[in-house]
Order: sequence, then structure tokens, then C-alpha cells
Amino acid sequence: MNISSSYEIVADELKGKVILVTGANRGFGLAITKDLAKAGATVIMLGRDLGSLENAYDAVVDAGLEEPILYPLDLEGATPEQYQELQDNVERQFGHLDGLIHNAAILGTMMPIEQYDIKLWYSTIQINLSAPFMLTQFLIPLLNKADDARVLFISAEQGREAKAYWGAYGASKHAIEGFAKTLSEELEKTNIKVNTLDPGKMQTELRRAAYPAENASGNPQASDKSSAIVGLMGVNGESLQGQQLTLED
Ligand SMILES: NC(=O)c1ccc[n+]([C@@H]2O[C@H](COP(=O)([O-])OP(=O)(O)OC[C@H]3O[C@@H](n4cnc5c(N)ncnc54)[C@H](OP(=O)(O)O)[C@@H]3O)[C@@H](O)[C@H]2O)c1
Repeated sequence: MNISSSYEIVADELKGKVILVTGANRGFGLAITKDLAKAGATVIMLGRDLGSLENAYDAVVDAGLEEPILYPLDLEGATPEQYQELQDNVERQFGHLDGLIHNAAILGTMMPIEQYDIKLWYSTIQINLSAPFMLTQFLIPLLNKADDARVLFISAEQGREAKAYWGAYGASKHAIEGFAKTLSEELEKTNIKVNTLDPGKMQTELRRAAYPAENASGNPQASDKSSAIVGLMGVNGESLQGQQLTLED
């Protein structure tokens, strides 16, 4: 289902909502964080590097937006104990969770399967697929405590149509689509809505790594697309369950 990239954010429309965003320190994750904070949500910014998270925090607060919470966690090495600790911390501080946005991902490498670096394969599958599985598993109890919760997996076109040389990234995005569909069916009768979203191309480091020779000046910025996520966490996401969403350019 195609949805518009632009959404008119209304001040305080997400006031009181607590939403966790992974990879929130830069790229699309930071743009999403800023727009959610603009809508009044308290964003739990999860990222692997505290220094980078602190810089992102300053950018949010200096813009006069709702103050976020920082949560450093390396999704490649995170253990079940660390996910349990995250659940305990969110439970203690907020008692529930309204939104979970699985945004963090790595490209891995652009390589034929025949030559694909095995270590990088495992890292990519861990960050792009296994970490979202564990994060979701540990946060479902808190999502269940919200009146109307949303889980959004940021996917990509390579997760819907296989393309040569996209290796572990393409495999992980295909798998996340299947995982999200399974989850949406399991949670069908609950208050938790689960969907995937292909945001389309954006000028970020991931895109630059995938297309180093591209003249990217005409590509949209992440901030051109992030307001749509506010809509999905709010009114536009009310009746969406188990959908493969695509942002229009
Ligand atoms: N850009 C596009 O054109 C495009 C198109 C379709 C889909 N997408 C999807 O959009 C999402 C965001 O991508 P982006 O373009 O914003 O990429 P990006 O600029 O490269 O950002 C990736 C984010 O993931 C985080 N991350 C990577 N490894 C991590 C780890 N081990 N633990 C915690 N965080 C980790 C990065 O943190 P560090 O700063 O610490 O590395 C960064 O915040 C991804 O799911 C991507 O697949 C992007």
C-alpha cells in the first residue's frame, strides 16, 4: 500500500506517547526522532554509540523539541540479559510502550553470494533481523500495556523483490517482511498493530555506501519522509495491520 511521504504534524498529537526508535543517532532514525519529538512524543533513542547519541540528543533539544531518552545498546552484540534490562528500565520509567520502530540496519556489502564475506553475512543478519526479533520479544509485554500500540519495521524494496548482489541485506529485509507478517497475525486480536515500511531512497550513509557513484543531489533527504512516521504512529496507523507500506517519493 502506497502512502504519502508528507504528513502535517500537529503539535502535541503524540503527547504522552513513549516510542522507541533504533538507530536514532543519525540518518532516517534521527529524522524520525525529531518529528516524533515535534509531535510531543517521548522518544527512547537507541543507538550503539553514546557519543553519537549525545550529539543527536543536543540536536533535538536545541530545536526546542520534546526531550528524548538515550539508550546505548549495540544491536550486534546485545544479549538477552541486556534486552531484559531494557524492558525493566522502560517498565520502571514509563510502565508501558506505545511504539517500537525498528530502523537500525547495515548494508553489509554489495557482493555476489559466491564471494560474500561470511563474517559480514552474520553481522548483517544479526543487526537487521535477529536484533529486531529479540527487541520485539522483550518489548511485547510493555506494548501490551499501551492502549493502542504500533510496531513498525523499516524495510526496503530489496526485501520485497530480490536483486543481485544485495546479499545479506536483501535476505534480512525479505526475512523481516515475513517476520512482521507472522507477528501481525499472532497479535491480530491485541492492541498492537504491526506493519512494514519501505521508505524509498534517501540521502543517507547507507544509500551512499550502496550507490557510491550516484549523483545523490536529487534524492530526498531523510527529513523529507520522516513526518509520515508520525502519521503512522498516530491517526494514519489506526486501522493498518499486517501491511507492506511504501512511501511515495
Ligand atoms: N537510505 C535509503 O535510501 C534507504 C532506502 C530503503 C530503506 N532504508 C532503510 O532505512 C533504515 C535507516 O537507514 P539509513 O538510510 O538511515 O541508514 P544509516 O544512515 O546508515 O543509519 C543506520 C543506523 O543504524 C544504526 N546501527 C547500525 N548498526 C547498529 C548496531 N550494531 N547497533 C545499533 N545501531 C546500529 C547506525 O548507528 P551508527 O551510527 O552507530 O552506525 C545508524 O543509526 C534502514 O532500515 C534501511 O534499511 C534506507
